Amino acid sequence: MAIISDDDRINNKVKAKNEDITPSETSFDMSFETNIRPKFFDEYIGQTSLKATLKISIEAAKKREMPLDHILFYGPPGLGKTTLASVIANEMNTNIKITSAPALERPRDIIGLLMSLKAGDVLFIDEIHRLNKISEEILYPAMEDFCLDMTTGKSQTLKSIRIPVPKFTLIGATTKAGSLSSPLRDRFGIIHRLEFYSEEELTMVIMRTAKIIGVKTDEKGAKAIAKRSRGTPRIANRLVKRVRDYAAVKSNGAINEQISNEALDILQIDKFGLDNTDRALLNIIAEKYNGGPVGIETLATALGDDAKTIEDVYEPYLVQRGFLQRTPRGRMLSPYACKCFEFNSSSQIQKKLFD
Ligand code: ADE
Repeated sequence: MAIISDDDRINNKVKAKNEDITPSETSFDMSFETNIRPKFFDEYIGQTSLKATLKISIEAAKKREMPLDHILFYGPPGLGKTTLASVIANEMNTNIKITSAPALERPRDIIGLLMSLKAGDVLFIDEIHRLNKISEEILYPAMEDFCLDMTTGKSQTLKSIRIPVPKFTLIGATTKAGSLSSPLRDRFGIIHRLEFYSEEELTMVIMRTAKIIGVKTDEKGAKAIAKRSRGTPRIANRLVKRVRDYAAVKSNGAINEQISNEALDILQIDKFGLDNTDRALLNIIAEKYNGGPVGIETLATALGDDAKTIEDVYEPYLVQRGFLQRTPRGRMLSPYACKCFEFNSSSQIQKKLFD
């Protein structure tokens, strides 16, 4: 069965998540990920109001000596949904099992997983919107009544039985809250959207990471990385590694503003945090489609990427920064994008958008 984590590997039993590991990443990168992951709320930077709400729910659950309500986190990738789930398990002093919906293809995957839980455990299912109907229906009574509805026997002797499962907390994560079926969504007691991080919060994340991995970093150096991290700690931490390498080769290993800027310029990440693909996407809308609107599938074909990656990975930040607009007729550049970027056809598009 495709359960990715079981017990005690690091401090409080959280293993690296399979799908966070790209083929090029080594065991060094995995231990980097696990070392820098905050384990408790006091180490977790950002998502302030969400943390406040969760702390109260956790304290109340502990007082009642009951598991926490089921929780759904949604929002763009890289904002710390998995990290937050493991922080919750640590704060509740319980185990966490981490998996993702595509690993729960067969009924026996989810049944086995539920049966393997211990009372109070946290079960984290990433990409929960991808759960198939059968697995989803197995989950309903488990979430609601902590039991599995099973059938035994054949035709005339067919009997339905209820098998208890330990009281657990399901934490679901999705980048697409709208794709979740309402019966599933309605079974979560706590539903929260994770927000992009501010520049100040990301600066703190970077300073913390640099300290853990033993790289001397001043605040301006960290801020220069934060500015280009798209409001996303996963990206900030990835860039810290690249800037660290650059600092080691070109200087004395310490990160400052100049080193950060030089390293990020080489990576072609601009002052808005956009990389070549983001800029190519905006450029295609400008040059090929006169500023839009253009349908997502057409855009995907023109960019040579798939529509889902564009929707889930590139668009949220472009929309949040106000460069891109999603309209019922398709994607459009914003007037603000035309002010910030030099497209060959800028004046033409501006005229179209402003008139
Ligand atoms: N590393 C990744 N996300 C973090 C966060 N929210 N706080 C501290 N360190 C992090």
